[in-house]
Amino acid sequence: MIKNQWYVVLESKEVRPNRPLGVTRLNEKLVFWRDELGKVHCIKDKCVHRGVSLCTGKVVNGHIACPFHMFEWDGSGKCVNIPANGKHAVISKAFTAKSYAVKEAYGYIWMFYGEAADATDRLPYFEELSTFGHHTVTQHWKAHYSRVIENQLDVVHVPFVHKSTIGRGNKTLVNGPVTTVDEETLTVKVFNTLDEGQPPKKESELKNIEKKSQLMFRFPAIWQNYISEKIRVTIAFVPIDEENTLLYLRFNQNIIKSKVLSYLFCRLGSIMNDKIAKEDQVVVETQLPKVSSNKLGEKLIPGDGPIIKYRHIREKLKSDEPKSI
Ligand code: FES
Ligand SMILES: [Fe+2]
Repeated sequence: MIKNQWYVVLESKEVRPNRPLGVTRLNEKLVFWRDELGKVHCIKDKCVHRGVSLCTGKVVNGHIACPFHMFEWDGSGKCVNIPANGKHAVISKAFTAKSYAVKEAYGYIWMFYGEAADATDRLPYFEELSTFGHHTVTQHWKAHYSRVIENQLDVVHVPFVHKSTIGRGNKTLVNGPVTTVDEETLTVKVFNTLDEGQPPKKESELKNIEKKSQLMFRFPAIWQNYISEKIRVTIAFVPIDEENTLLYLRFNQNIIKSKVLSYLFCRLGSIMNDKIAKEDQVVVETQLPKVSSNKLGEKLIPGDGPIIKYRHIREKLKSDEPKSI
C-alpha cells in the first residue's frame, strides 16, 4: 500500500450515528464513528488499555468508549476519560490511540494513510461528478488492489473476458493505446479494432487523435470510465489487506434531473456494471503473484502500456514513502 495518500475506505451511509463501525482497511483493524456534529473519526480498533476491540463499544459525548472499562478517546486519539481514575485525573499521553485523518466527500469516507499531521487538502477525485446522480454497487474481490486496478487499465482483455457485454464486436487488435500522465491523472485512449490482417498502429501514430471517451485513473485508487460528458462509471478501490479489495462501482449520470428517474436510470447502469465487473473478477482472482510490481518477470506487449505506466508510478510513489511510517 502506498503511504501518505487519501483512500476511500467506506461509503458515507455505512457510518451511522451512535453506531461505531469496525472494519479492516489497509491491513489494519479500524473503528469509525460519528460525533454529535456528524463528523466522522477513525482510530485503531484495539484498546490501548487491554486490547479489546472498540467497535463493540459506544459513542459518548462524541468520543468512542471501550466496552470493557469505558475509557474514552476523541477523534485525535487523545484519551479523555478513565473512569476508574476519577473525573479529574490527569491522563498520560501514553494512553493516546493511533488516529487517522478522515474526510467525508462525494458520498465516501476518505482516510489519509499516514500521519494525520501530514494530511493534504486535496482528494484525488473527479470534482465535477458531485453534480451527477449516481448509484453504487459493492463487490468484494479476493485480490490485491493493485491487480484490481491493473485490470481496469487493461485494454487487451475486453473482447475476450467481456465477449457478450462491452467486448462485443471482436475488436481484438489493439492499436496503441495512448497513455498520458499529467500531475494527477493517468489517461488512456483506446483504439481497439477488428483484425483484418493489418498491423496494429503504434502509440506514436495515434497521439494527436481527439477522443472524448477515455479511461482515467488517479492515485492511489480512483478510476473513471469517461463514457461521455454526461455518463461516467467510477470505481473506488478500497484495499482491505494483501489479498482482499472492495470495489465501490458507481454509475454516474448528468442527463436526467428528476431524482426518481435518475435513480432508476443509475440502477440500470449498476446492473450492467455489476455484471461486467464479475466477468473480470473470476479471472483476476487467479492472478499470481498477488501483488503487482515492476519486477514480476511478466512478458508484456505494447497493449499493456497503461499497466506499465501504472506500475512505474506506483513504484515511484512507494519509494518516496518516508521510512518513519
Ligand atoms: S480494555 Fe478498553 S478500557 Fe479496558
Ligand atoms: Fe474488464
